[in-house]
Amino acid sequence: MWQPRGRELGAIKSALFALCLVPFAHLVWGVAYDALGANPVEAVTHSTGWWTLFLLCATLGVTPLRRATGANWLLKLRRMLGLYAFFYAALHFLTYIWLDQWFDLAAIAADVLKRPYITVGFTAFLLLIPLAATSTDAMQRRLGRSWQRVHRFIYLIAVFGVLHFWWLVKRDVTEPALFALVLAGLLGARLYWLLRRLARVTRAAVATSSG
Ligand code: HEM
Repeated sequence: MWQPRGRELGAIKSALFALCLVPFAHLVWGVAYDALGANPVEAVTHSTGWWTLFLLCATLGVTPLRRATGANWLLKLRRMLGLYAFFYAALHFLTYIWLDQWFDLAAIAADVLKRPYITVGFTAFLLLIPLAATSTDAMQRRLGRSWQRVHRFIYLIAVFGVLHFWWLVKRDVTEPALFALVLAGLLGARLYWLLRRLARVTRAAVATSSG
């Protein structure tokens, strides 16, 4: 299997970095040229929310794709995808607390407590913060095995993201349902690997005890 090295990998990373910036650039352009439609705040909320969920799924898609293709270098792109998911989540949250709620903390707290879709979205965002904060190599080294445990929260975050989307749409649930399907596949793959590993360990234990 082809493995990019040095400059090739650098070029792929730069291209991905630029690609992930496109939705943001599109929003900046839309604001600058007043091209976001009748309700720009809604347009920004929708775009940043959608891209957060898309990038969360893309981050979760790296490992299955790597295992299916043997392209181990894909792992080197995972952190960037995760950090971009956080970037769009932060923009999404900022749009909500600033342009939607005008920093009215009482109204925000009431919303978080009263509207289940805001509660799960808010929880997902809070859970993303430690993941972004511990995404560096230094933090990974310092946390050792706990790093993986902390980063497994991405599964819950993605589930909350889909629930958030599902609960907020009023009629047509096609899009959240598609995200749910993709996420079920991504989590299902992990469950399958876990069960296979358990079966292997059990078989090895049985073989040792009977031999
Ligand atoms: C990981 C965290 C989050 C994800 C993945 C996420 C995802 C989404 C998605 C996919 C949408 C719909 C976009 C569309 O219509 O195309 C959305 C809308 C929305 N989100 Fe989030 N979100 C997150 C966190 C939050 C937080 C923290 C808040 C506020 C506290 C929030 C408030 C909203 C609001 C107000 C809308 C628009 C609702 C409407 O159209 O009536 N979200 N979000």
